[in-house]
Amino acid sequence: MKEVDLLIVNASELLTLAGPDRPRSGAEMRDNGAVAGGALAADGGVVVEAGETAVLTRKYCGRKILDAEGRLVMPGFIDPHTHLVFAGSRENEMVMRQTGLTYLDILNRGGGIHATVAATRKTEFDELMALSRRRIRQMFDHGTTAVEIKTGYGLDEETEGRLLRVINALKQEGPLDVISTFLGAHTVPSATNRNAYVDWIIHKALERFKDQAEFCDVFCEEGAFTLEESRKILETAAAAGYKLKIHAGQFHDLGAAGMAASLDAVSAEHLDRISPAQLDLMRSHGTVAILLPGASFFLNSQSHADFKMISDHGVPVALATDFNPGSCPCFSMQMMIALAVRKLGMTAEEAVTASTFNAAWAVDRGKQLGSLEPGKQADLILLDVQNAAQIPYYFGTNLVRTVVKRGEVGD
Ligand code: NIG
Ligand code: FE
Repeated sequence: MKEVDLLIVNASELLTLAGPDRPRSGAEMRDNGAVAGGALAADGGVVVEAGETAVLTRKYCGRKILDAEGRLVMPGFIDPHTHLVFAGSRENEMVMRQTGLTYLDILNRGGGIHATVAATRKTEFDELMALSRRRIRQMFDHGTTAVEIKTGYGLDEETEGRLLRVINALKQEGPLDVISTFLGAHTVPSATNRNAYVDWIIHKALERFKDQAEFCDVFCEEGAFTLEESRKILETAAAAGYKLKIHAGQFHDLGAAGMAASLDAVSAEHLDRISPAQLDLMRSHGTVAILLPGASFFLNSQSHADFKMISDHGVPVALATDFNPGSCPCFSMQMMIALAVRKLGMTAEEAVTASTFNAAWAVDRGKQLGSLEPGKQADLILLDVQNAAQIPYYFGTNLVRTVVKRGEVGD
């Protein structure tokens, strides 16, 4: 018998998500690697083996034993697109939208992102940390064990720098793994010359922040940045050593996803509108599609991303909350799975793959996170359901009973 730190036994099913050394696409997304009556041995914060309880209890003795008592065990959720660090809230815009204004109308009138920028610029580091910690705790309680966080509510040197300091402090603090993204190109700040702002990003900000952010993202959209501006920003970012992401096709298809894919972007995000030619570019450059059904749901949009078309083009799909104060103030990846099944036409198994395995690849963590395979981080959750299909079925409540992070069992 081998002694290990943690032995989890008696899962109804254990979803290993074990798979290839690349994101899954097409029919592969339906394979969750389910083991009936599953068990898992972890040591030193990483997975040693996943398999059947009857087999693992003969091989391992756990210094700690966690009896899943017939619950579903699966990798922790990875949320690969959030705007988690900001001050204030914008519930007033929900009322404005009910009177007929759109998200872009509100942005163009100086509300939306601009309102959050004004509130965030006034808020000091400690207060932003306190607000963000509470949000991280909510996500953790809902089963998220890694999160990507974008800047984009500072839009000046001082405040973007403060947001990056908050993001990097959250990374140090845990418990979640944090992936940092510079989104200075979220919108042109009010009372600022457009060309001067794009110049600042290209000639100053990207160099200034390159050691503090892993990724660079741009909101390519009418009312935000044009395709050409986005291209210049991403090209400069790539040359400075950033990995690339893009907000593409949320309200209009400006061709951003194909442009970013041809620059080898790791992910293109939203894609509520996208052309087949761009999907071909995404497939050939290995760019992951991150779909955000919470944003289209919250904004009451009639059009949702076309999962079937995206998937039929062989593009791997991930899901994220888009957590932010304007288009999706929701912490729960379980809710995104429910929306993906109802609104995007995904099966529960596809949505589970998109929230774990493919989400890890969407933040370039596919070798460490997203599946329960030997050597990968022991980040996993126990849910009060028996199989993947019951996650979207029991929608709207938190089904997570226990979160295990790097082999440590949470309270
Ligand atoms: O992904 N689209 C741009 N950014 C966010 C919304 C930000 C906001 O409204 O504050 C999004 O939906
Ligand atoms: Fe976003």
